[in-house]
This record gives sequence, C-alpha cells and structure tokens, in this order.
Amino acid sequence: MESRCLHLCLKQVKILAQVITLETLFLATTHDTLYYKEACQLRDVILRKPLGMSLYDQNLEEEKNFIHIVGKSKEGHIIAYLQFKAIDESTTKMQQVAVHSEYQNQGIGRNLVIFSETFAKKEDFSQIILHAREPVIGFYERLGYTKVGDRFHEVGIPHYKMGKHIEPNNIN
Ligand SMILES: CC(C)(COP(=O)(O)OP(=O)(O)OC[C@H]1O[C@@H](n2cnc3c(N)ncnc32)[C@H](O)[C@@H]1OP(=O)(O)O)[C@@H](O)C(=O)NCCC(=O)NCCS
Repeated sequence: MESRCLHLCLKQVKILAQVITLETLFLATTHDTLYYKEACQLRDVILRKPLGMSLYDQNLEEEKNFIHIVGKSKEGHIIAYLQFKAIDESTTKMQQVAVHSEYQNQGIGRNLVIFSETFAKKEDFSQIILHAREPVIGFYERLGYTKVGDRFHEVGIPHYKMGKHIEPNNIN
C-alpha cells in the first residue's frame, strides 16, 4: 500500500509526524493528547483485558518520556497503536503493538510498523528491539524482525525478544 508523507518531525507541536495510507492516518504524538488517552483504551481492550488485567492498574508515568504512534481511522477513531521507549542513543524498544480487532488482518499492523520504523530512523535510531508474544512471532518475522533470545514469560504469557537493524536517516 502506498504511503504519502505530509509532515515529518515537527518536533515543536504535539503531532510529531504523520502519514496517510488509503484509509488510515498514522501519526506520532505525545502522552498529553486525546490521541494517547484513546489509545490507552484500545491497549486495555486488546492487550490487557484478554489476560484478565487492566492497563490502568499499572503506573503509566514513565510513558511521558515515550513516543506514541497511533493509527486513526477515516471515521476518526484510534484503531492502532504502538510506543517507543528509548534504550540508548542507537536502540529503541517497540512496545504495546495493538490493532483494533475489527481492523486486524487488513495490513494496518504492517503499515503501523513501517511508519514507526521510518519515524525511528529519522530520530537516528539504528536498532529496534521488542518482546513479541509467541502467537504473533510470524507477524514480526514478515516485517524483518528476528528472534534474538530464548523464550521467556512476561504478563504471564510466552514471549521472544526480537530485533531489527534499521539504517538511520538524517533527512529533516
Ligand atoms: C499482531 C497485530 C498487531 C497484527 O496486526 P494486523 O493489522 O492484524 O496485521 P497485518 O494485517 O498488517 O498483517 C501483516 C502480515 O502479518 C501476518 N500476520 C498478522 N498476524 C499474524 C500472526 N498472529 N501470526 C503470523 N502472521 C501474522 C499477516 O498475515 C500479514 O502477512 P502477509 O505479509 O503475508 O500479508 C494484531 O493482530 C493485534 O493487535 N493482535 C493482538 C495484540 C497483539 O498480540 N499484539 C502484539 C503484542 S507483541
């Protein structure tokens, strides 16, 4: 699916970057926006409730320092989300990847990750790491991520650490 860049890395405003695919707007934003608030509801439904947990039981304070990437439907709803937590100057961790259940298997997760990788490159990161839930290893493998460690448990379910090298892009 072709993507069209509209604005890139407008660091002084709440929307840091955005791209529109045929039906979904992807944008990077900060924790103090309605986009983030709506995305938390999506994360709770997709990533926590199926495990019998609530997102709101965890301390979200550190997320003030994260980059938040959302996908917005043409109707204006947040239907996809992921966040980046910087590990060091070259490595960032992709977390909380979620697509609304009614929008899964339509390429939105792939476009979310592709947009996010472009954003991370522009922020000069050269490596993305993530903790993948076992049932979605294949999703990340299709996007070029490889397992880099042994199976382990997180939030009570099996995960694998995965990673991908990305070439930094210094275009402003
Ligand atoms: C995993 C998730 C983000 C994928 O998003 P999506 O929009 O459904 O995925 P896409 O339609 O973009 O799929 C892209 C490709 O990955 C494949 N894929 C999607 N989910 C997959 C899975 N669970 N296992 C293997 N392959 C998968 C698709 O078939 C597609 O393959 P293709 O390149 O041959 O067309 C989404 O299903 C989701 O939110 N799942 C629940 C939450 C979750 O588990 N998040 C991950 C936490 S680590």
